[in-house]
Amino acid sequence: MAAKGALELLKGLDIDRLGVGTGSTVARFIELLEEENIKPRVVAASSLDTALTLSEKGYNIIHPSLTPVLDAYVDGADEVDPQGRLIKGRGAALLGEKILASQSRLNIIIVTSEKLVEALGSRKPVPVEVVRDSIQPALRLIRKRYPNAVVRRGQGKDGPVVSDWGGVIVDVYTGPLRDPLEAEMFLKSIPGVVETGLFIGYTDYVVVGREDCQWEVFRYERSKIP
Ligand code: A5P
Repeated sequence: MAAKGALELLKGLDIDRLGVGTGSTVARFIELLEEENIKPRVVAASSLDTALTLSEKGYNIIHPSLTPVLDAYVDGADEVDPQGRLIKGRGAALLGEKILASQSRLNIIIVTSEKLVEALGSRKPVPVEVVRDSIQPALRLIRKRYPNAVVRRGQGKDGPVVSDWGGVIVDVYTGPLRDPLEAEMFLKSIPGVVETGLFIGYTDYVVVGREDCQWEVFRYERSKIP
């Protein structure tokens, strides 16, 4: 229902350049795009997974390095707080996702209601992408503040999960964050940390899918407009 709600929002707009996130909710959104035969002129994908799915459906994907300013970007999230701040990156696509969100005039986040939390970090870790060759030094510094930071492993391979961009994913179990922006600044200050899954100041709309076949739309004032 969240994916359907986002599509209805987009239908009212003139979308020429669309960015597409990653994850199971986005996968449903892509199915709906295809069903409704919506074909924006330019489509940017936040991950290889999304690029493959879109190209199999006949969409022409622009290379990430040529990403233009987008009319809209649609993505899921792991947690959403009352200010529309997000944790993202369960699928290890946080870097591509943040690049696209930073280049979009309109960001629409699609979630189910259990993703709504009072404080980010309450349920999910903050994923962080770290340059491979700085993994131990970076972990040491991250653990000074967040001892429960672990290299993500498994998911179909032995050893660390490496993102589409070549970095190792570290899951930082922060517990509920009183000041997510300060946590973001701390994590980004560590040499070797490329990006974090804290998305602060990117959200324009959150569309929440409900079990009664409805959706709710929440509007936020974004502080960071490209
Ligand atoms: C991908 O790296 C993530 O940021 C996803 O967008 C996020 O985890 C939401 O995924 P689901 O829609 O599958 O819950």
